[in-house]
Amino acid sequence: MKFFPSIISANLLNLESVIRTIDPHVDGYHIDIMDDHFVPNLTWGPMFVAALRTVTNRPFQIHLMVDNPATWISRLACAAGDSFVFHVEAVNTSQVSPVLAAAKQAGWRVGLALNPATEIERVGLYLAQLDEVMIMSVNPGFSGQSFIDTSAKAPALRALSSRLGVTAPLIAMDGGVGLQNIGMLALAGIDLVGVASAIFSGLDPVKNIQNLRQAAFFT
Ligand code: DX5
Ligand code: ZN
Repeated sequence: MKFFPSIISANLLNLESVIRTIDPHVDGYHIDIMDDHFVPNLTWGPMFVAALRTVTNRPFQIHLMVDNPATWISRLACAAGDSFVFHVEAVNTSQVSPVLAAAKQAGWRVGLALNPATEIERVGLYLAQLDEVMIMSVNPGFSGQSFIDTSAKAPALRALSSRLGVTAPLIAMDGGVGLQNIGMLALAGIDLVGVASAIFSGLDPVKNIQNLRQAAFFT
């Protein structure tokens, strides 16, 4: 399982040092972009993401919680392995495929995120285009929320992919992930997790990451 810390709950006033400390222990970074409209919270923009890029070469999973993801494709610089993940609920059905294609064309890995209440079938139409699917296990907007168990969507997505005769995308989960559920998520076939509070609470994020990895591995 891959671990992508969600920097939203890191010590933001000391972020460079936090990233340098955890960088050898992580697989990439989960970067939550919120527009105060699709979700009732506001985070950061292109300049901040570009600044992060100067301190790490790990891949970025950009999680766009915005109304109009298409406008972000060219505003964000894309490096090898970075993914552009937007919400299937944010975009008119007729626009999902063109936005995925445009992001792909710009060099991104592409993905769709699904709110807990959204059925996995909603991504079926786009599976052939998708590099990843992000199953939300909280309603997007804030870190530190309780986990909603949506893990059954992972095997359902694999079954849907095989029914449609396409390679299953990487399956990510985001929200409320921690020691209490990481083993179960590994068993459910989650490939990658975005984790904020379970990594950044307490004094030692590296130890938290190591504990999560161990719990995922030994389940
Ligand atoms: C929620 C964000 C998540 C969040 C995870 O809207 O998309 O990535 O930062 O935070 P935790 O791990 O604290 O639930
Ligand atoms: Zn997120």
